[in-house]
Amino acid sequence: MANMTNTVLVTGGAGFIGSNFVMHWVKSVGSAVVNLDLLTYAGNPENLETLEGDSRHIFVHGDICDAELVGSLLLKHRPKAIVHFAAESHVDRSILEPGAFVRTNVLGTFAMLQQAKQYWLTLHADEKHAFRFLHVSTDEVYGSLGLDDAAFSEVTAYAPNSPYAASKAASDHFARAYFHTYGLPVLMSNCSNNYGPYQFPEKLIPLMILNALEGKPLPVYGDGSNVRDWLYVEDHCSAIRAVLERGVVGESYNIGGNSERKNLDVVQTICDLVDELRPDASLGKRRKLITFVTDRPGHDLRYAIDTRKINRELDWKPALAFNEGLRKTVAWYLERAAWIKNVRSGAYRDWIQKNYQERASK
Ligand code: NAD
Ligand code: DAU
Repeated sequence: MANMTNTVLVTGGAGFIGSNFVMHWVKSVGSAVVNLDLLTYAGNPENLETLEGDSRHIFVHGDICDAELVGSLLLKHRPKAIVHFAAESHVDRSILEPGAFVRTNVLGTFAMLQQAKQYWLTLHADEKHAFRFLHVSTDEVYGSLGLDDAAFSEVTAYAPNSPYAASKAASDHFARAYFHTYGLPVLMSNCSNNYGPYQFPEKLIPLMILNALEGKPLPVYGDGSNVRDWLYVEDHCSAIRAVLERGVVGESYNIGGNSERKNLDVVQTICDLVDELRPDASLGKRRKLITFVTDRPGHDLRYAIDTRKINRELDWKPALAFNEGLRKTVAWYLERAAWIKNVRSGAYRDWIQKNYQERASK
């Protein structure tokens, strides 16, 4: 049987973080990436256009729940690591349609772990030792913090509040169990809110940039006082690489940007940046587009990350400050008319209609 190769199998590599990670990996590490992605509404091959013609990027259109496909890919490419991003990722969708989250996030992760274990058992002892399964997860599994509570650490008890968070928590538990029960070399990371290029415009930051640009209402849930910690996506990619290369198997690592902001502050800053970069006299100040709408059910008040473990043990910290990253992100979206036109397909318009039609202005 052929030996393990330097290839990495990435799932969900046509989505927001996955595509940034695949580009980061091919450009800075240089070994081959097999990218397994179902191309749901959130997956977009155009995110990977800078890798067109690059033989180190092998795209496979398929489902992580398809155990036979996953097993055959592992035996064919014999990767040294799996980085598992594929998921349903949007909290509002999980409130309206939770079933897809159980299927992809729970059953899909189970299929990945089971096939990884089967493959791992075929490896030689030294390869078994070197193999890694990195399960990419979220800070939302820890639930919600009060404004004065200490930030989430790796020992904070799980208390997921949305169907999305519950499905990710379930997948984290399976990942942990495969390490403890079978010895599969699993690593886990739990990260805060990412932002940056190629994020699908259903999420707060790109949605607000595009609406501000076009003079549409900016729908802030509740009173806008909910707090999120923001991390530029490139910094998440470098953290994942640090976990993969230097993390201790069986451990989890919290990743964050040390940049807590109230949603209203984020939206106001976006308004000011769009005013500066694309002034429009007919619209005036974009801040006046802000509209407070009915809150998200079960809306978590605050997320915050204690990053001391990854900082101390893996020597990782974020490179980009939030204001700098947000400026880069706004500038990126302002220059991407074609990408934006393509991602805002009929299915996107249907989602916007469904999510926001019920949210009365307050
Ligand atoms: P995304 O929604 O942008 O992308 C998800 C990708 O997974 C898409 O390309 C989609 O086509 C693919 N996919 C979905 N179902 C699949 C299936 N059954 N088989 C194969 N591929 C499938 O998500 P994202 O924001 O890039 O998040 C990636 C991962 O990081 C997720 O696991 C998410 O929980 C986690 N995470 C996200 C954030 C964030 O702020 N976005 C923060 C922390 C953790
Ligand atoms: O914390 C990590 C998580 O961050 C990831 O696990 C999720 O995949 C990712 O989607 C993100 O979840 P959030 O729910 O925090 O992200 P979202 O962009 O949907 O919302 C950010 C905040 O903005 C949240 O408090 C809700 C609010 N919001 C969102 C939208 C879409 C609004 O006020 N208005 C909106 O229209």
